[in-house]
Amino acid sequence: ESGKLWGGRFVGAVDPIMEKFNASIAYDRHLWEVDVQGSKAYSRGLEKAGLLTKAEMDQILHGLDKVAEEWAQGTFKLNSNDEDIHTANERRLKELIGATAGKLHTGRSRNDQVVTDLRLWMRQTCSTLSGLLWELIRTMVDRAEAERDVLFPGYTHLQRAQPIRWSHWILSHAVALTRDSERLLEVRKRINVLPLGSGAIAGNPLGVDRELLRAELNFGAITLNSMDATSERDFVAEFLFWASLCMTHLSRMAEDLILYCTKEFSFVQLSDAYSTGSSLMPQKKNPDSLELIRSKAGRVFGRCAGLLMTLKGLPSTYNKDLQEDKEAVFEVSDTMSAVLQVATGVISTLQIHQENMGQALSPDMLATDLAYYLVRKGAHEASGKAVFMAETKGVALNQLSLQELQTISPLFSGDVICVWDYGHSVEQYGALGGTARSSVDWQIRQVRALLQAQ
Ligand code: ARG
Repeated sequence: ESGKLWGGRFVGAVDPIMEKFNASIAYDRHLWEVDVQGSKAYSRGLEKAGLLTKAEMDQILHGLDKVAEEWAQGTFKLNSNDEDIHTANERRLKELIGATAGKLHTGRSRNDQVVTDLRLWMRQTCSTLSGLLWELIRTMVDRAEAERDVLFPGYTHLQRAQPIRWSHWILSHAVALTRDSERLLEVRKRINVLPLGSGAIAGNPLGVDRELLRAELNFGAITLNSMDATSERDFVAEFLFWASLCMTHLSRMAEDLILYCTKEFSFVQLSDAYSTGSSLMPQKKNPDSLELIRSKAGRVFGRCAGLLMTLKGLPSTYNKDLQEDKEAVFEVSDTMSAVLQVATGVISTLQIHQENMGQALSPDMLATDLAYYLVRKGAHEASGKAVFMAETKGVALNQLSLQELQTISPLFSGDVICVWDYGHSVEQYGALGGTARSSVDWQIRQVRALLQAQ
C-alpha cells in the first residue's frame, strides 16, 4: 500500500522524479478552502443518499472544519506523499477522525472534485477582479469629470488629428473596460455551474442528489453530462481570454501614457509612487508601472494560448494534461489583480500638464473644421486647397488672410475667425459619443449608471 488514493493495485514504487513531476500540491494548495467546502457539501449528499449516518456526517464535517482551520492558521503539515490538495486534505481528515474519513470519497472522483474546486475558486476570483475593475473605472470617470475642460491633441496613426477633450481620451479607455466588466460577468455565469456528482466519467452510482449539492455550494446550475463536465475547460479558456482582452485595453492605455509622459510630449507626469529612477542617469523618471502593465499582457496571452494548445490534442474526458489549467488560472488571476490595482494608482495620482496639452494643439488640426465651415455654407472640398496654400506659403493655416481664403472659395467671410478656436472646434461634436462637453457629460452619466448597477 503506497498510501495513495489509487495505491490499491500498485506494487512497485513511483520513481521520485515521476512523483515530483506528477504532483500538483505546490500550486493547487491554493484550493484548500474550496476543496473543504466541496467535501462538506458532498458529505451532506452522501448522508441524504443513506451512505453516511448522521453521526458519520457530523464527524466528517467537524473533521473538515479542523482541516480548514489548520490551513487558515498555517499549521497544516504537508507530507511527501501528498500529491495534490484533494489527497492531502483526505489524508489529514483520516488522521483526525479515523476510518470514517474514507467514506467521503465514495462515488466521488478527483475528476469531478478538482473541477468543482476550480469553479468555486474562480467564481470568487471573478467577484474580486470585478470589484477591482470597477474601482479602476470609477477612478477614471472621476478624473474625466474633474478635467473635462482640458483640451489636447487627438491622434490617429500617431499623427495629430483633431482637438479633443482629455476626458474624451480617458473615457475611451474606461468604456472599453466596461465591456470587460460585462464580459467577466458572462464568464462567471458559465463558471458558476456544478460538476460534482459526475464521478470520473460515467456519473454518480449512488443516487447523490445533485440539486442538493448545487444548493449547498450555491451554484447557478448543474452540468448536463458527466463526460463533458469532468473534462471541459471552456470556462478556463474563457476566463483567460477575458483577461487577455482586458490586458489589451490596459496595455494600449499604458502605451498612450508612456508616450504622453516623454519630455517630447510632456502632457502628463507620473507620480513618484508609480515611477522609478535610473541608477546611471539621475534626470530620468521611468514609467516602469506602465511598462510592466504593457508587458504583463504578453504573459497573460501566453497563458491563454498555452491552455488552448493543451486542450487541442486531448481525447474525450479527463486526461492528466488538464492538471495544467490551474497554474494558468492562478498566475493570470494574480497578474490581473496586481495590474488593475497599479493602473488605478497610476490614474488617480497622475499629474496633467494642461498648458503643454494646449500648446500642442496647432492650427493644421483645424483643417477639418475649415471644411465643416464651408460645408455649413453649402460648399465642399475647398479646405484641402487652403492647407496646400498655407504649406506653399510656409505659414500656419490660420495665418492665411481672408482675401487669400476667398481666392479659394467666395464663401469664406469674416466669421471664419471662429474656426481657429479649439474650444469652438470640440464643441461641434455634440452628437452622442462625441467630444463636445455635453456629449462627454453624457458618457460620464452612462458609465456612472453602469457603475451604480453593479
Ligand atoms: N491533481 C489533479 C488535477 O489537477 C486532480 C485530478 C486527478 N485525477 C486523476 N484521475 N488523476 O487535475
